Amino acid sequence: MNKANITFFPDNKTIAVVKGTTILEAAKELGIYIQSVCGGDGVCGKCRVIVRKGTVQTEPTGLLNPEEKDEGFVLGCEAKVFEDIEVAIPPESRAGIESILLDGKKTPATSSSGLDIYSIVETIQSGDLIEEKIFHHSPLATKVFLKLPPPTLQDALSDLERIYRELKRIHHYELSPVQTGLANIKKLGRLLRDHNWEVTVTFGKRNGTTELILFEGGNTSAKNYGVAVDIGTTTVVAHLVDLVNEQTLGTKGTFNKQISHGDDVITRIIFASEKEGLAKLNLAVTENINNLISSLAEEHHIKLEDITAVMCAGNTTMTHLVLNIDPSYIRKEPYIPTANEVPVIRAAEVGIKIHPRGLLACAPAVSSYVGGDVTAGVLVSGMAEKDELALYIDMGTNGEMVLGNKDWLACCACSVGPAFEGSGIKSGTRAVQGAIQKIKINKETFEPVVETIGHAKPRGICGSGLVDLLAEMKRVGIINRAGKMTESPSPRIRTGEEGLEYVVVWKKDAETKDDIMITQSDINHIIRSKAAIFAATRTLLKKMGYRVEDVQKFYIAGGFGNFLDIPKSIELGMIPDLPAEKFHYIGNGSVAGARHLLLSYAATHKVREIANKMTYMELSDDNTFHEEFISALFLPHTDLTLFPSLK
Ligand code: FES
Repeated sequence: MNKANITFFPDNKTIAVVKGTTILEAAKELGIYIQSVCGGDGVCGKCRVIVRKGTVQTEPTGLLNPEEKDEGFVLGCEAKVFEDIEVAIPPESRAGIESILLDGKKTPATSSSGLDIYSIVETIQSGDLIEEKIFHHSPLATKVFLKLPPPTLQDALSDLERIYRELKRIHHYELSPVQTGLANIKKLGRLLRDHNWEVTVTFGKRNGTTELILFEGGNTSAKNYGVAVDIGTTTVVAHLVDLVNEQTLGTKGTFNKQISHGDDVITRIIFASEKEGLAKLNLAVTENINNLISSLAEEHHIKLEDITAVMCAGNTTMTHLVLNIDPSYIRKEPYIPTANEVPVIRAAEVGIKIHPRGLLACAPAVSSYVGGDVTAGVLVSGMAEKDELALYIDMGTNGEMVLGNKDWLACCACSVGPAFEGSGIKSGTRAVQGAIQKIKINKETFEPVVETIGHAKPRGICGSGLVDLLAEMKRVGIINRAGKMTESPSPRIRTGEEGLEYVVVWKKDAETKDDIMITQSDINHIIRSKAAIFAATRTLLKKMGYRVEDVQKFYIAGGFGNFLDIPKSIELGMIPDLPAEKFHYIGNGSVAGARHLLLSYAATHKVREIANKMTYMELSDDNTFHEEFISALFLPHTDLTLFPSLK
């Protein structure tokens, strides 16, 4: 028998796998998510599990100490299974349900951390933070009901031309040039005669032409739906939209299943170049989208055949992957994507399950590292239509910045690193249940008070918690301006394997096996990340000849950004020292932008104009950026005059 059973606890779920399968692969197949920041390369140490019955074959690793090995700990990605085993997943190795930014607000999920990572987070109401823009209603796919005059000897137009004539005459639609698929035409003659010359025509704008996508007998024009999708590196969010009355019927989000193949875009691009890697990544994200669509459709009693259009917005790599395009050139100098703007295609071509002839479009990108999520967000912000100078920032593992107004736009991107997503940090975690998001430290005793997401037992520190923690450590004097810890009589400051460390939560009070702490090397990582964000912002301003004070509006987009404490971020020197009223949270600008694009061809024109207008500045070999980066490696900065409010 070449199969072995693995039973996972506390889930108590069993799966039979081919011998030689890793524990990580088996868990994924079962829909149980184990953290795998490095994508299974055996270098991040986040996939630790305990083999409590049976044995596995594994490679030697320095990521586990001898005591842990004695307790049965193995790396899930390295441990191959050849006999029946039982595996326990410790809480810190399991990613819980993350609070997913469905729209303008981020709301922590309240489910227990034992839930399946891929379960769909329940609907969170639309936020009120997005400046609502109005575009002329002209959806990607439009349904029109026609009552055709039957042909006569005097009016002997063909069936298809009869439809064209009626669309032009009654509805004044500009259809030229027009195309219609042969499959549709073949059915048309019978359909018209069977339905007494009453027909609903679905047409879509497709790459400069109008396509008559679908003919249906009778009047079905009231049933026309579309889905706006934000494909994030970490999460995928979908809005089900009634294309007739422009109402959003429901929103749902889930983790991007590609996470099993690495946390960031670079790891995924590398994985895509492996055998069947691209196909696996494409399948993962299309499954995500299909699950969200079918769940929304079921909840709102809508048939998949009545969904005629999907509009996606994502970074350039995510857009390549959903379209099954090899993204490998994105990470090779001179960093050229295969396409910034891709044509409107049939959704079925990439496995998206809506009406088989329904359309799929993607927001245009500007470059390899400024994608459709940013152009969609800028569209929503309205900054490209105003005189005032605005700065737009989307912060994730990459930071994207756009500066400009209605006349010009300039943008850049920088690698922030995964620190604010909780990766590469000893006690880091995503913004999941139990993640520490707020910290206050007593100046005399150095004793902290922490607040966790969902008020659950602490299991790690998420991005906003790290910003809080560093700002507090600086305020009370645990670290100096260079971010260096100094020895102290406080038991919370001690010397660990990597030098000094500060214990935030003792393990007896935590959901973890070890104390929750921050090490000197973690602090160095975070300072580099915040320095990259600030340096990129300053470089963009400098190159365009502006000072920070010239910025009239500062838009912050993205999941991490949405939870940022502005004063603490300024104290850290991550964002410019501007008055609070200049900052505006955009929320999930990507999905909000995709919704506009789904509903309006005018918005599609506008976003294309935005993408074409944006001048991209490559920072990787830019001296100004490097100088700014070095200057920003202090708290808040080497030049304190840049932070007048902190004096
Ligand atoms: Fe196993 Fe990174 S060490 S996923």
